[in-house]
Amino acid sequence: MNKDFLIKDASEFVNKEITVLGWVYNLRPSGSIVFLQVRDGSGFIQATVVKNDVKKDVFKEAQKITLETSVEITGLLKEEKRSPTGYEISAKSVIILSLAQDYPIGKKEHGPDFLLKNRHLWLRSKRQWAILRIRNQIIQGINEFLQTEGYTRIDTPIITPSACEGTTTLFEIDYFGQKAYLSQSGQLYLEAAIFSVGKCYDFSPALRAEKSKTRRHLIEFWMMDAEAAFMDFSQMLSFEEELIFFLIERVLKNCREEFKIIERDVKPLESIKKPFARLTYDETVKKLNELGSDIVWGSDLGNDDETMLMTHYQTPVFITHYPAKVKAFYCKKDSGNENLALAADLLAPEGYGEVIGGGQREEDYQKLVDIINKEGLKEKDYEWYLDLRKYGSVIHSGFGVGLERLVAWICKLEHVRESIPFPRLLDRFYP
Ligand code: 4AD
Ligand code: MG
Repeated sequence: MNKDFLIKDASEFVNKEITVLGWVYNLRPSGSIVFLQVRDGSGFIQATVVKNDVKKDVFKEAQKITLETSVEITGLLKEEKRSPTGYEISAKSVIILSLAQDYPIGKKEHGPDFLLKNRHLWLRSKRQWAILRIRNQIIQGINEFLQTEGYTRIDTPIITPSACEGTTTLFEIDYFGQKAYLSQSGQLYLEAAIFSVGKCYDFSPALRAEKSKTRRHLIEFWMMDAEAAFMDFSQMLSFEEELIFFLIERVLKNCREEFKIIERDVKPLESIKKPFARLTYDETVKKLNELGSDIVWGSDLGNDDETMLMTHYQTPVFITHYPAKVKAFYCKKDSGNENLALAADLLAPEGYGEVIGGGQREEDYQKLVDIINKEGLKEKDYEWYLDLRKYGSVIHSGFGVGLERLVAWICKLEHVRESIPFPRLLDRFYP
């Protein structure tokens, strides 16, 4: 089989004979000409099989083709203005590799329930192809940015003895007779690794038994946690800003075709400028009250609050200095006010809300012991974590990017479920 040709490289093969291996995702047969829309994973192209130009059995074969049949088509590649992608293959031979039967996803509108049940097939759609590719560009971009900045990737365990983000959303498992939990975030382990490599990150699934059925919540999602020694709160905010800005520029450069397919108006992304807006929690509550929210000082922002606030802003916004009691135990307190945490969430515009959570960590041994006990956590479970404050403790900060939240915003998806290949939702873990 000729594996040299990929549809994405069509412009290099004009007026040459090529063989494409792929699937027929749309077709229009007629008595004298069969139009086949073919995809090969790299792109999309039209092939025409003209009765008068091909052998009889070739045309017969082409007429048998159904939606999602896998094919090998050989023919002349031409420029063709009328074809949806600007190129077309004049087929000389058509080989059916596997004839598909009654492909269940058609052109008509399907409801989300049907599509999610058929997610294994739905992924083949042009729209899902585009989202998967943008997601991939974001993942690549995150790795590239952090590696360039001197961060070492340190992958963290999925099975853990203790909670990172509160005990209410823990998935418990039986670890050969002992209780263990699935990781909510690798942060605590990264805090250990900074003493070795200085700056590090992980990129892995995060699991939360969160009984939330919103367009922002997945049960299993991917998180990139980054952590750096000798980095303070304000340095961390600038670093997050650089990362997000880098990612936006990268997708705008590399994903033009994909954005077109999903009909994402990229102007709002193009208009994003540094520095991002910064609001303290105090200012945020005031602003939300003005906008009509009934949020009271001391409670965390709800989903509706985030939507309300971020429909208002055209650029990402940092919310800083949250009440310590709504943030996790490891947060360092503001030196000017012990009730406030040096924690920041980055909220995305166009109504999206939180995409990053992070902050400066408490580096003092005794303060950390006190808060662990105050929050009813078991000191014994965190002995190793407390060790980090015994042996050369330093100021440090870090943050966690929710990959799917970022993808949902960048692609302007209605629901985060489309931003991950196989979403795990409150009521669904099939397929
Ligand atoms: O804000 P979170 O809970 O922060 C942490 O887990 C920290 N330990 C991260 C760190 O400092 N290293 O989660 C981080 C991000 C959120 O901002 C959000 O984007 C995403 O993870 N996230 C979710 N995404 C999808 N579904 C959920 N249920 C999510 N929960 C959090
Ligand atoms: Mg958060």
